[in-house]
Amino acid sequence: MEERILNNKKLEEDTFEASIRPDSIDEYIGQSEVKENLKVFISAAKMRDESLDHVLLYGPPGLGKTTLAHIIANEMGTNIKTASGPSIEKSGDLAAILSTLETGDVLFIDEIHRIPRYIEEILYPAMEDFSLDIIVGNDGTSRNLKIDLPPFTLVGATTRAGDLSAPLRERFGIISKLNYYTIEELEKIIKRTSRVLDVPIEDDAAIELAMRSRGTPRIANRLFKRVSDFALVLGNGSIDLSIVKVSLERLKVDELGLDDTDKQLIISIIERYNGGPVGIDALAATINEETSTIEDVYEPYLLKLGFLKRTSRGRVVTEKAYEHFNIKKEDTLF
Ligand SMILES: Nc1ncnc2c1ncn2[C@@H]1O[C@H](COP(=O)(O)OP(=O)(O)OP(=O)(O)O)[C@@H](O)[C@H]1O
Ligand SMILES: [Mg+2]
Repeated sequence: MEERILNNKKLEEDTFEASIRPDSIDEYIGQSEVKENLKVFISAAKMRDESLDHVLLYGPPGLGKTTLAHIIANEMGTNIKTASGPSIEKSGDLAAILSTLETGDVLFIDEIHRIPRYIEEILYPAMEDFSLDIIVGNDGTSRNLKIDLPPFTLVGATTRAGDLSAPLRERFGIISKLNYYTIEELEKIIKRTSRVLDVPIEDDAAIELAMRSRGTPRIANRLFKRVSDFALVLGNGSIDLSIVKVSLERLKVDELGLDDTDKQLIISIIERYNGGPVGIDALAATINEETSTIEDVYEPYLLKLGFLKRTSRGRVVTEKAYEHFNIKKEDTLF
C-alpha cells in the first residue's frame, strides 16, 4: 500500500521525531491545563522528596504523550525506562523490567491497554506498594516471592482509555487527557521546528501549514519536513506560502488537512450507504481498513470537524461533509 503522507502512526526508531522533541515542560507547547497541573504535581513531589504519583496520558496518536513522558523524567531529574504493551508477552517480561528500576525512575509503558490482563495484575502491587509478587519454581515446589521495588513513577500512555481495565485505571493518581491543538499552537510548534531544523518559514506559510495539520503536532512536523524538501528543490530552501500551497497540492492534502483516504471514507458512506448510518465494521470492510485504524486514526478528526457523527445505529455523514466534497444530496438518491 502507498505510504500515506498524513500517516499519523508512529514509526519505530523515528529519529526525526526524537530530534525535534521538546525536552522541558516550558518548551512543550499547548495542552496548558495538563501542563500547569503537572508542573504543580512535579514541584510538590520534589518538595517532599518523593517519586511522582503514577500518570496516565491518553488521547489520539501524535499529540505528545511520549514526549510528555520524557519531559516528566527530565523535570523530575530521573531516568526513563520504556516498554510497550504489545512487547510484554509473558509475566517474566514485566517482572524483568520492574526489577531494573532505580529510585525515582520513570517507567514509561506505551499502549498500556495492550498488556494482557493476567500480566497486568503484576502491576497492581507494584504500583500500590512498590512490591513485586512473583511465583517461582514449578508445580510441586512453587512458592510466592515478594520483592521490594524502589519507589518509581509509572507513566502509561494509550490512545484508548476505554480499553483500560478499571483496576489499572484506578491505580493512577494523575490522569490527563490530551486534546487536539489549536491553529495558533500548531503555528508555534511549526515555528519551533523551523528554528530547530534551521529552515526559515514565513508567518502566513506557518499558519497555512498549521491549518492543514489536523490539530496534530506529529502531522505538522511531518508536513514541515516534506514542504522543506519542495522548498529546497523548487525554491531557495526557505518556506513561503506559495511553496506550502504547491507542495500540499502535490501531496494531495486539502485545505482542511484531509487526504484521499478521508475522502474515500466519506464518499463510500455517501455512495454505498446513502450517507449512513453504517456500522464501523461494515465501513472498515468497505474501505479495506482495520476497524481500529479507522477508530484511532481517521475518524477522530472527521468527528472533530463535524463531518461525521456517531449515532447508536452507526456513523452518519453530515451536511458539512457533503458541502466540503461538493456532493449534492439528491445526486445519491436513485
Ligand atoms: N506540545 C508539543 N510541543 C511541541 N512538539 C510536540 C508537542 N507534542 C508533540 N510534539 C511533537 O510531535 C511528535 C509526536 O509526539 P509524540 O510522539 O509524543 O506523540 P504520541 O502522543 O506519543 O503519539 P502515539 O500515540 O502515536 O504514541 C514529536 O516528535 C514531538 O516533537
Ligand atoms: Mg507515543
